[in-house]
Amino acid sequence: MRRQAPSIPLIPRAGPARERLRIAGQFWTPAWIADAMVSYVIQGGSDHIFDPAVGAGAFFRAAKAASAGLGRELALLGTEIDRDALAQGLAQGLTALDLNSTQIRDFALNPPDRMFDAIVGNPPYIRHHRISQRAKAELRAFCLDFTGIVLDGRAGLHVYFLLRALQRLATGGRLAFILPADTCEGKFAPSLWSWISAHYRLDAIVTFAPDATPFPGVDTNAIIALIRNEAPRETFHWAVCVQPETSQLRDWITASFTAPGAALEVHERLLDEGLATGLSRPPLHEVWAGPQLGDFASVTRGIATGANDFFFLTRGEAKRLGIPETLLRSAIGRTRDVSGSEITLDNLRALDSRGRPTALLTLGTESPDTYPPQVRAYLEEGIRRGLPERPLIATRRPWYKMESRAVPPFLFAYLGRRNARFIRNSADVLPLTGFLCVYPRSSDPVFIEKLWRILSHPMTVANLGLVGKTYGSGAIKVEPRALERLPIPTCALEEAGITRPEHQPSLWS
Ligand SMILES: C[S@@+](CC[C@H](N)C(=O)[O-])C[C@H]1O[C@@H](n2cnc3c(N)ncnc32)[C@H](O)[C@@H]1O
Repeated sequence: MRRQAPSIPLIPRAGPARERLRIAGQFWTPAWIADAMVSYVIQGGSDHIFDPAVGAGAFFRAAKAASAGLGRELALLGTEIDRDALAQGLAQGLTALDLNSTQIRDFALNPPDRMFDAIVGNPPYIRHHRISQRAKAELRAFCLDFTGIVLDGRAGLHVYFLLRALQRLATGGRLAFILPADTCEGKFAPSLWSWISAHYRLDAIVTFAPDATPFPGVDTNAIIALIRNEAPRETFHWAVCVQPETSQLRDWITASFTAPGAALEVHERLLDEGLATGLSRPPLHEVWAGPQLGDFASVTRGIATGANDFFFLTRGEAKRLGIPETLLRSAIGRTRDVSGSEITLDNLRALDSRGRPTALLTLGTESPDTYPPQVRAYLEEGIRRGLPERPLIATRRPWYKMESRAVPPFLFAYLGRRNARFIRNSADVLPLTGFLCVYPRSSDPVFIEKLWRILSHPMTVANLGLVGKTYGSGAIKVEPRALERLPIPTCALEEAGITRPEHQPSLWS
């Protein structure tokens, strides 16, 4: 275990010194963290590091130590707004030469023109109400221009630093930032991280157990984000550091996130899940005790006919066979037959005109004699084909009795990576086994409307990865009971303004 370098000043707990820190956002990064972060950004072979907020130079010291290990000099590039902070760097072992390429300038509003391959930083943690109105307007305009996002006004300076640094990150370059956890938890966080992770590769997020905090005495949790300017991936590494001041974080990073020591607990997580849970939080399935879909709806699989080629007909076939409309129900068989998030009567008509089956022969327990002669003839045809002996059909009395389902207001297409989705059933169709039936626990139309808002909320959909089984191909399969365990994100509940109904399980039977 390495101790923190004694030259790093302790953080004043109160009084004017503490207030000065708060205003300037001057919290120095301890060496064990700076070493780990620098080890990440130089892994791509960069000949420099760039620190946008050099302060007393924690990352420059780490880069000098790394240079010695690499046997080559890393150029030390930086910006800093406060000359006095750099003077502290000199007092802490840096030379004037080390600071030669550090420019005194405001990185957020006036960054250097060039791009960097390796950016490492601990940006000033300055909350939004301490940023001047003018600077804030400029930063928000930059953000809109760079990302297309109107960021919630509560984003602090550190958030704009992160975006500015990503803007200056060369293709293939690496960035390591240590940030307050609010960067992943604030109101602005979902849109911020959705944008970042859609445009960059989030390699890892490192969090800290209270005993291992990099900033003892500071009331904010820290996280480290390790990001590459490369194509995004569907998973990312997530770690909680449980012991401070060891080299294990650096070792795990340099071993490409393998072989973690006892000081780290690591998880490989799905990006969708991480974004839905909040990147600073542990994987949801371990902690989720909040509302689940089952609190609002019950889920049943679609109808299994036992022989689609016999029971599930095109309208043309049904007509040719002379089967009366009263014995047919509109149904949907393949997920591919519904392309969007709603099935309408127009969709059904389009399927009919393409010769896709949409008519389910729905017979009950009546004896064949009670049916018209054409239906009787068709049932005899079924017997000739050996249908009554088929596995599922053989369990039914009589064999042609169809499974019964109420028309579900919502369907769920349960297999597929991009295609696993909820579908609004505006055509009153019955789904076959390619779908699950979702029955709201209240029949109140207002409740059903609100439930639809929840089901179509991107954060709800993102949670599917938590309850589904994922396959190598990226497909997700979700079983009915698992879908009832789908965590409903608080933001989706709040936006829909829904409350949990009393359970009414028999409502749709
Ligand atoms: C949290 S400290 C980190 C310093 C050092 N990199 C470290 O990790 O120990 C943030 C530094 O950002 C500087 N700073 C604040 N606003 C800045 C700005 N707009 N542009 C550049 N530096 C700024 C502060 O003076 C402070 O030294």
